[in-house]
Amino acid sequence: MPHDGTSQGIIPILTKVCMDFIQPEINRYAEQYTSPEPPLLDRINHETYKSVHMPRMLSGHLQGRFLSMISKMISPHAILEIGTYTGYSALCLAEGLATGGKLITLDNNEELEVRVRNYFRESGREKVIDFRLGNALEILPDLPGPFDLILIDADKENYGRYYDLVIDKVPSGGFILADNVLWSGKVLKAKADKDTRAVREFNEKVKADERVEQVLLPIRDGIMMIRKN
Ligand SMILES: C[S@@+](CC[C@H](N)C(=O)[O-])C[C@H]1O[C@@H](n2cnc3c(N)ncnc32)[C@H](O)[C@@H]1O
Repeated sequence: MPHDGTSQGIIPILTKVCMDFIQPEINRYAEQYTSPEPPLLDRINHETYKSVHMPRMLSGHLQGRFLSMISKMISPHAILEIGTYTGYSALCLAEGLATGGKLITLDNNEELEVRVRNYFRESGREKVIDFRLGNALEILPDLPGPFDLILIDADKENYGRYYDLVIDKVPSGGFILADNVLWSGKVLKAKADKDTRAVREFNEKVKADERVEQVLLPIRDGIMMIRKN
């Protein structure tokens, strides 16, 4: 993983390496004309790149502001996130919660627990964010719902299973967002690895599902925005 040993300069390099199907100059321009990250999110972004494994998993500035904006448009009472990582996207989504609303976020990485809980505490939103550690496949069947907004952003292999486990917990007019549905452009490649096949199958599954309408947005690594009819 290339980096220069400091927090400065790491993020543009990695953005270029990992999301190279969108021109880096276009990404930078889009970020310049997008509202800045709130200070805590900027810090989480930099600290994640400095000291956490696989930092490119973090949503980042542009996508984070998009998630925040979508959440503010929906003003959800209940949000579910599958794949917390360092808490960045959960905090973006939580910005749009309706008064009295709750966000549940799931992750199975115990090593990040202390860091994530600290960030949630620092945000002042720890009372509305319910962070649950464990395998999402085991937790989801027992979550009652309904959820007005769901973000699927965990292991690609299980995207189809996550979709099946949550679709009945979304009311008519509710939304599911699924991240990484362009998988760095690999969805177009003839030779596909396991994760690429899983992402393609997920995209096909959503396309074929008459209960929903959807838009595949080429933001960062691709976001499938799904609305339950
Ligand atoms: C792409 S990262 C999430 C990034 C985060 N949403 C963000 O934008 O900042 C994916 C996360 O899913 C978690 N994950 C993978 N498989 C999981 C599973 N079966 N159950 C719960 N979490 C899982 C990983 O530990 C990782 O932290």
